[in-house]
Amino acid sequence: MLIETRAPADPLVLFRRWYREADRKGALQPDAIALATADASGGPSVRMVLFKSLEDGRFLFYTNYESRKGRDLAANNRAALVFYWSLTRHQVRVSGRVSRLSRADSTAYFHSRPRGAQLSALASRQSRVVPSRAVLEKAVAELDRRYPETVPLPADWGGYALRPNWIEFWENRADRLHDRLRYVRRQQGGWRLERLAP
Ligand SMILES: Cc1cc2nc3c(=O)[nH]c(=O)nc-3n(C[C@H](O)[C@H](O)[C@H](O)COP(=O)(O)O)c2cc1C
Repeated sequence: MLIETRAPADPLVLFRRWYREADRKGALQPDAIALATADASGGPSVRMVLFKSLEDGRFLFYTNYESRKGRDLAANNRAALVFYWSLTRHQVRVSGRVSRLSRADSTAYFHSRPRGAQLSALASRQSRVVPSRAVLEKAVAELDRRYPETVPLPADWGGYALRPNWIEFWENRADRLHDRLRYVRRQQGGWRLERLAP
């Protein structure tokens, strides 16, 4: 149970604990997150992406910079993401600002992916209208021939890091009297911990 006296001072400690618990108990895709962005005029958009790692307290994910989400983030770098692990009945909400990873970091991660996934990323102008699946498959086949060894990192592909301003932990409890603990980043460093009504 989530009780303030046992909640760590650092939300990332609690995040890692919950993530490991979901994984250990066999959650199907514990790394699947819904990522919400908004365009320049505030129009919201949400889709699933894969959470890759926590680095320097930031949540990392990879995508195409010219996709809808990429264009949203270029115009408005505020974003939110949510994890939900039904096995443990835990939800974690994260909100903050997003920045691009360095080209070197994106290259390293890109080349750690299977060759097929690298070719698909290179062939796909993500979120654009395409005339048919056949066009995509032909583009992949051509790139496969053109790059028999190393597939180059696409110019418009890479990682993002979301630095949380706040993180909320939600735990299912009886009679819908759920626990909600929110950590809000303090300007002077550290986190303020508060309980929210369910
Ligand atoms: C479980 C799951 C994981 C996904 N992971 C990613 C991902 O890591 N990166 C990505 O670009 N798209 C991922 N997608 C596809 C996105 O949901 C989405 O279709 C794509 O990124 C285009 O979104 P956009 O048009 O809003 O930019 C994933 C989809 C699912 C269902």
